[in-house]
Amino acid sequence: MRAKIFGVFMLCMAASLSGGAAKAQQNAQGASQQQDAHPSLPPGAGRDTLVKVCSQCHAPENVIANRQDRQGWENTLTKMSDYGAVASDDQFSAILEYLVKNFSLAPGGPVNVNKATSAELQSGLKLTDKQADAVVAYREKNGDFKSLDDLKKVPELDPKQLDAEKSGIVF
Ligand code: HEC
Repeated sequence: MRAKIFGVFMLCMAASLSGGAAKAQQNAQGASQQQDAHPSLPPGAGRDTLVKVCSQCHAPENVIANRQDRQGWENTLTKMSDYGAVASDDQFSAILEYLVKNFSLAPGGPVNVNKATSAELQSGLKLTDKQADAVVAYREKNGDFKSLDDLKKVPELDPKQLDAEKSGIVF
């Protein structure tokens, strides 16, 4: 358990994007009002609660590394509560709704890579915003993708990741 927390802590220090341990510490103390401290967290109900409750042990950015369906998020919250995350039922519900709203698996099933917006590519195919923007730019320049191999030509994309997601990709 201690080793695990330490592992998360190291992860969070390694994530230079998140500003490292100092910032995580700052957030843990409740300084969550600066909206731009976590640009990867879209605004909305539950956000401040998440930052406050979920920054106690790891950066909130770790929280959203993987998208999950509602059941998945419920399981995660139960697990975090077992680890010692402290929040009221209302706070846990607010966090759950925020996560489901913003970090769900593609609710609409497969993603059409020729039509999806950058945001849809991000949520549906777990792309970073840079990767999703690159897909849109490539498509605008070269026309529609016709196959997975076509899509792999976008230099920012990871072919292995695409293979893993291919059941969720349509053209
Ligand atoms: C008391 C400390 C603590 C708090 C507070 C906490 N977590 Fe965690 N979290 C952990 C630990 C420890 C791990 C590493 C778990 C592992 O390696 O199995 C972790 C890992 C995770 C992961 C990675 C995937 C997984 O399931 O292991 C997610 C997602 C996550 N936490 C979400 C949250 C959310 C959402 C909150 C706020 C409700 C939160 N955490 C609050 C301790 C905490």
